[in-house]
Amino acid sequence: MPSLKPLKKAVLPVAGLGTRFLPATKALAKEMLPVVDKPLIQYAVEEARAAGIEQFCFITGRGKTAIVEHFDVAYELEKTLSERGKEKELAQLRAEAMEPGSIVTVRQQVPMGLGHAIWCARHFIQDDPFAILLPDDLMLCDVSCTKQLADAYRETGGNVVAIEEVPRERVNRYGVLDVEKDMGRLVSVKGLVEKPPVEKAPSNLTIIGRYVLMPEVIGHLSKMERGAGGEVQLTDSMAKLIGAQPFHGVRYEGRRFDCGDKAGFLEAQIAFALKREDMAGAVRDFLARYR
Ligand code: G1P
Repeated sequence: MPSLKPLKKAVLPVAGLGTRFLPATKALAKEMLPVVDKPLIQYAVEEARAAGIEQFCFITGRGKTAIVEHFDVAYELEKTLSERGKEKELAQLRAEAMEPGSIVTVRQQVPMGLGHAIWCARHFIQDDPFAILLPDDLMLCDVSCTKQLADAYRETGGNVVAIEEVPRERVNRYGVLDVEKDMGRLVSVKGLVEKPPVEKAPSNLTIIGRYVLMPEVIGHLSKMERGAGGEVQLTDSMAKLIGAQPFHGVRYEGRRFDCGDKAGFLEAQIAFALKREDMAGAVRDFLARYR
C-alpha cells in the first residue's frame, strides 16, 4: 500500500439551531450544554486530540460565538484563579489550552444539511484525509472513538465510519450500511442510504456521528444534490466513493449517547457522573430514591 497521509484534521459541524432543547438554546449554543461540568463540544475536541488531530475546523452559524470563546485563553479568569490560589483549576485550564492557530471557523450561512456543512470546510480540508465529529453524539469509550477510526483508516487505507446496530424500527433515523462483507470489527460496504424507510433499509447497521473521510468526497458534495428531507446529505456523497476507494464501517468499542435527544442527554449525565470518583457515590445514592 502506498504511504498514507497522516490524519491531522477534523471538521466539527456546530451550526444547528438546537430546537429540541429550547428554551435552553435560545441564547446558548447547544454544543455548550454541559454533561456534568464539560460542554459537549469539549468532549468532541478532546476525543479528536486523543486521536492525534491537531487542526480543527468548526462549522458555525449565528449565535455560536461562545464556542470559539470557550477555546480561547481566558486571561482574566486565569489571573483571578492565580490570585486566589486556585492552582488545581488553573492547571486544568492550562492543560486544556489549544495550540495557537489550531482552530479555524467557517460559517454555514444557510442550513442546507450536513453535506453542505462539510462542503463549507473544503478550503480547510484541501487534499487531506479528515475526521468528522458530530458533537451531539457523545462517546464513552476507553479508547477514543476517533482514535479507533484513525487506526482503522491506517489499516484499510480509506474511508471509515463508526457504526452500531440499532433495533430495526429505528433505522429510519440514521445513515444505514448496505453490507458487502461482515468481518466482525470491520464491515466492508457496498452501499449507504440516508434515513431509509424501515421496510427498505438494507441492514440495521447504522452510522453514528464519527467519520474519517478522504478529500474526494468534497467533489461529490459540490454537486449539491438534495437527498432525504430535501437536504444535501453527507451519506449520499460518501456512497459515491464506494468502488473508487476502500469504504468500511467500524464496530467501535464503547457507548454512544444521543445528546440531541433529551432522554439521551439525561442518560449521558448519569453515565458520565458515575464514571467520576468525586460523584459516583452521591449519584448512586440519589438514584436509589427514584426506583
Ligand atoms: C446524521 C447523519 C446520519 C447519521 C447521524 C448520526 O443525521 O446524516 O447519517 O446516522 O447523523 O448521529 P442527523 O442526526 O443529523 O439527522
